[in-house]
Amino acid sequence: MTRSADTLTLTRPDDWHLHVRDGAALEAVVPHSARQFARALIMPNLRPPVTSVGQAIDYCKRIRDAVPEGLDFEPVMSLYLTDTLPPEEIEAAATAGVRAVKLYPAGATTNSDAGVTDLRKTYKTLEAMQAQGLLLLMHGEVTDPSVDLFDREAVFIERVMIPLRRDFPELKVVFEHLTTREGVDYVREADRFTAATITAHHLLYNRNAIFTGGIRPHYYCLPVLKRETHRLALVEAATSGSDRFFLGTDSAPHPAHLKEHALGCAGCYTALTALELYAEAFDRAGALDKLEGFASHHGADFYGLPRNTGTVTLRRETWTVPETVPYGEATLKPLGGGEPLSWRLA
Ligand code: NCD
Ligand code: ZN
Ligand code: ZN
Repeated sequence: MTRSADTLTLTRPDDWHLHVRDGAALEAVVPHSARQFARALIMPNLRPPVTSVGQAIDYCKRIRDAVPEGLDFEPVMSLYLTDTLPPEEIEAAATAGVRAVKLYPAGATTNSDAGVTDLRKTYKTLEAMQAQGLLLLMHGEVTDPSVDLFDREAVFIERVMIPLRRDFPELKVVFEHLTTREGVDYVREADRFTAATITAHHLLYNRNAIFTGGIRPHYYCLPVLKRETHRLALVEAATSGSDRFFLGTDSAPHPAHLKEHALGCAGCYTALTALELYAEAFDRAGALDKLEGFASHHGADFYGLPRNTGTVTLRRETWTVPETVPYGEATLKPLGGGEPLSWRLA
């Protein structure tokens, strides 16, 4: 990494948690990620979900076709875990270069209805993953309606993470989009088979952002933004230099009219300015020197993939995030649209 007062040059980064959807939506958003990142772990929560190697291969090709000429961007594919995903599919996945399987507790988030109802039903599949070295990526929230929405991650640790780690000690697990102090403490103290992604929005905002001056649906995502004390714990973890924490935007596009709705969809669109948002967060914490490890090294190392070659450069420059971008026939409102950012990708 090289750094002057006004520039920051780092190894090309990767996004280890990205939703690019499909069809016209995919064509609209893939260029945004491709200009910043060398690779991205593509989430499989399409409708219908990506539950077979054949679907993953076809989806990967559609993503590659949407990468603008002259950019090189490699999708890293995952499968969607269901109660019935066969262990044989895991062997085929490993052979085809699929790296991970995503666990959505049924009902926890967008397109999770086909998700897992009871993790014990998937144990044969998890055994195959552990044997083949595929990662398990977890949306870490319980869905028990008696658990307060803001406590769903902390309860998940007790009810799901701890038993899972005991039963599959050598399965590589990523606690996705970590949002709480409890989550940070858990991951920091776990062994080297456990890591976590952290989004830019959970580093930059606390839950007040959803309610400032009225209800602001573009700040609504799952897991929902938490109290300031949790945000501070996340900033501390991301900027600590620990290789257990790495970049995953969870950029999750939804058409503006479905977010500004009586039943607004969960998900923040951050891919347009992802690296700039992280730079903002690290700069505010006085930790720009830790950005490269978090954005470009720790994730690749945990996935067992080579670090990228080549660099990207950010310049200190105040500029305004666009309020809307085209999204097929609809529009997309990037998070922080109309607001200033102080770093810009060269
Ligand atoms: C994601 C989506 O829209 O696909 N939404 C979100 O709020 N994060 C799903 C997810 O990552 O949970
Ligand atoms: Zn999720
Ligand atoms: Zn996600």
